[in-house]
Amino acid sequence: MILLSISIFWLSVCVDPISADPHITVEAHVGSTALLPCSLSKDFSKTPHVRWRADNEFVFERNIDGTHVGPGYEGRVDVPEDKLRKGNCSLVLKDVRITDHTFYRSFIVEHVEATNTDKIQEINTVQLNVYSQSVSAQVGSTAVLPCDWRQLSIQTPHFEWRIGDEIVFERLGKESFQGKGYEGRVDVPEEELLKGNCSLVLKNVSVTDETLYSSYILMTDTKKSVLVQNIKLSVSEKSEDRKDDRSAPSVIIISIVCSVFICIAIFILMKYLRNLSNFRNSCNLRRCS
Ligand SMILES: *[C@@H]1O[C@H](CO)[C@@H](O)[C@H](O)[C@H]1NC(C)=O
Ligand SMILES: *[C@@H]1O[C@H](CO)[C@@H](O)[C@H](O)[C@H]1NC(C)=O
Ligand SMILES: *[C@@H]1O[C@H](CO)[C@@H](O)[C@H](O)[C@H]1NC(C)=O
Repeated sequence: MILLSISIFWLSVCVDPISADPHITVEAHVGSTALLPCSLSKDFSKTPHVRWRADNEFVFERNIDGTHVGPGYEGRVDVPEDKLRKGNCSLVLKDVRITDHTFYRSFIVEHVEATNTDKIQEINTVQLNVYSQSVSAQVGSTAVLPCDWRQLSIQTPHFEWRIGDEIVFERLGKESFQGKGYEGRVDVPEEELLKGNCSLVLKNVSVTDETLYSSYILMTDTKKSVLVQNIKLSVSEKSEDRKDDRSAPSVIIISIVCSVFICIAIFILMKYLRNLSNFRNSCNLRRCS
């Protein structure tokens, strides 16, 4: 399990630099504080000018004169000045909301005296995934990722569960589609969906299923998808597997150690008894009492 997650980690580290966009993903629970990482390659004597944007909307800016905060982010965002001077331009986003689930970009703004213009350079991009609930499941079990769309008034829902852009399950009336790797394992039963229950049933959970799942309802009129729910699935190994792994070797070691001790004890006892009888014998010969 640990080995697997280490190898997955390395895999993602190795794959990332190939993609054109250096892409960082951060996951945060609704209401928590998220740290969107960012770093500048040098230290600064005076405060550098940094800017954060989300999906082309202004979020936060700090320069030598102070800070500006975008609408909807009041009291929730900061790039601490002491950190920024040391080249740490990470954005601290407090009280995370479901609407914060989007793509963020950080920029460094440099004033060019000669032309009296600003030169804006992108530093990095961060995908923030916000989830409202987490579900844990054991390997091989069936997980139900809860979802409710009753607040949306739609007659025949066209529904999707996705991991990022990848479709896990899609349903339109009786028609359904199961994504690659999920064939025969996923469903949102039609009768449940019509009742307003869009929960995803995921059978035979495996370690690689551990990720963030998003459910969307597709609007027939606007052709837009509306985010309904984000669920974080955590997968643990079967408990009996873990018990076997860990207790089996220790039981063997304990029994070996015990047998060695018992052998030594018997050996010492035997030697003692032999010495005692030798002593008695020699006493008998010498008539000492
Ligand atoms: C950058 O600053 C944030 C707080 O603003 C801190 O939590 C984080 O650990 C810092 N990162 C580094 C690499 O120092
Ligand atoms: C929603 O559906 C799932 C499975 O499709 C089921 O396990 C769950 O109990 C349902 N929830 C409600 C509130 O009916
Ligand atoms: C469950 O998934 C594993 C692979 O993850 C597979 O080997 C096994 O056959 C599956 N079991 C069932 C009952 O489908």
